[in-house]
Amino acid sequence: MDKYLKHAGLSGDSGKGKKLVRILERYRQEHVLEHIGRLSGRKKDRFIKEASALDLKLVLDLYSEISRGRPSRPGYARIDPPRVYRPTEPGVNGMLYGMGETSIGKGENGVLIVAGGQATRLRYPYPKGMYPVTPVKKKSLFMLLSEKVRAVSLRYGADIPLLIMTNPESDILVKRYFEKNGFFGLGRKNVLFFQQELLPSVSPGGKLVIREDGLLASSPDGHGGCLKAAFKSGVAGKLKERGIRRLFYCHVDNPLVKVLDPLFLGYHLRSEADFSLKTVRKRPGEKVGTFLYADGKAAVVEYIELNEVLDERGSSHAVEAFDSGSIGVHLIELSFMESLFFKSGGLPYHRQEKELQVEGGKRIGIWKFETFIFDAIPFAGKVSCMETSREEEFAPLKNFSGMDSPRDVREAMSSLHRKWLTSAGIRVKEKTEVEISPLFALDESDFARKMKGRKLLLQGKSLYIE
Ligand code: UD1
Repeated sequence: MDKYLKHAGLSGDSGKGKKLVRILERYRQEHVLEHIGRLSGRKKDRFIKEASALDLKLVLDLYSEISRGRPSRPGYARIDPPRVYRPTEPGVNGMLYGMGETSIGKGENGVLIVAGGQATRLRYPYPKGMYPVTPVKKKSLFMLLSEKVRAVSLRYGADIPLLIMTNPESDILVKRYFEKNGFFGLGRKNVLFFQQELLPSVSPGGKLVIREDGLLASSPDGHGGCLKAAFKSGVAGKLKERGIRRLFYCHVDNPLVKVLDPLFLGYHLRSEADFSLKTVRKRPGEKVGTFLYADGKAAVVEYIELNEVLDERGSSHAVEAFDSGSIGVHLIELSFMESLFFKSGGLPYHRQEKELQVEGGKRIGIWKFETFIFDAIPFAGKVSCMETSREEEFAPLKNFSGMDSPRDVREAMSSLHRKWLTSAGIRVKEKTEVEISPLFALDESDFARKMKGRKLLLQGKSLYIE
């Protein structure tokens, strides 16, 4: 140990530095010790502070398990297409809708937006939630989603806590953004922020990676990190005190999401599910998770793993039978989250291969580790899944250009809102950009009701209704 402390120039250190050196020594990360030894003053303090906040042990143990041949995912003996509810009967829908509305009115539901991802594919230098996404007013994703929460809250006269998961790097920016914008009318006490953790990255040879700026490479621990972070931050406890029983979970990148959709909530409640998800019919090769049954249990398999899983089993079903794509919209019972967090040892880690720029401008391959919230599904007592229409509910903002780009998303929003106008008897030109504020109407029938007897004067190429 003394040798290593000397190596890192930390002989006199008794606190964090010593602990860090002990871990680095145990996992044979001499290159990091040498790097620390070359640092001095503030740079050294910062390195030690940040590296000590990372769970190095977790990742280095995961690495050694993988290198000892631990399979990177569970093997299944049988894969089947899932049971999915397609809401087609108006009578049943009305009943479920009513159940959902009653629950919202009781104030027992919260909304969680996971916004801790790095959004590298979008090439946007700020947190993705700040992206000006809407076609006419250029509202940001955070603004639009907050307005949806506010609209539901006003419609049912219920306080709805909005939880935002950030990561340690985006946290301050996101909080300032909400503060600057008056929490988009939701009230400070109703917006709860919490941070997910960062995990260190390793090289394919199992070495911690030093970034171009001299700090250890790390990245957010996946959206499944919301489980750990919600409990460790105390946010889950606050929700329980407020009488919240479940969370409506969504990704920050889908402006069409129907926040706390009463029909989905009613179906979840009637199914007595611990965990529910919404799916759309997948397009061939689409990069979405697939909902299916693995060894008789509901599960979502991520797109990179689907073919492998199907091939492995020589599934008796054609690949086309697996066409339920998860849109990252869930309802999760808090009691289930709690039991998962405290009893089952949490969610499994997935390894992702990425590229990173290191010292000297070189790009190298790295491994990062993440947990996915949908891996909670096989642990749930009951799972329910409802299919919905892509045009109405799914237009994710993912890429700088091409598919799922800002252009695609704006067009999807305009096109949906043009349809609302048309069914309310208002004619608009095919190219007109249309945006309807969630504070005016939340869905097509709400819009038709509010437009009854009203006239719209259409001018120019775009139209905003609020
Ligand atoms: C994700 C899903 C995929 C689903 C698709 C729908 C995974 C692994 N896959 O794909 O099954 O069909 O969305 O759009 O998630 N996030 C965090 N912290 C993280 C990582 C991500 O909060 O550490 C958040 C992001 O901010 C975003 C959401 O999770 O809101 C989705 O992340 P993203 O990386 O865009 O997922 P995809 O790979 O596109």
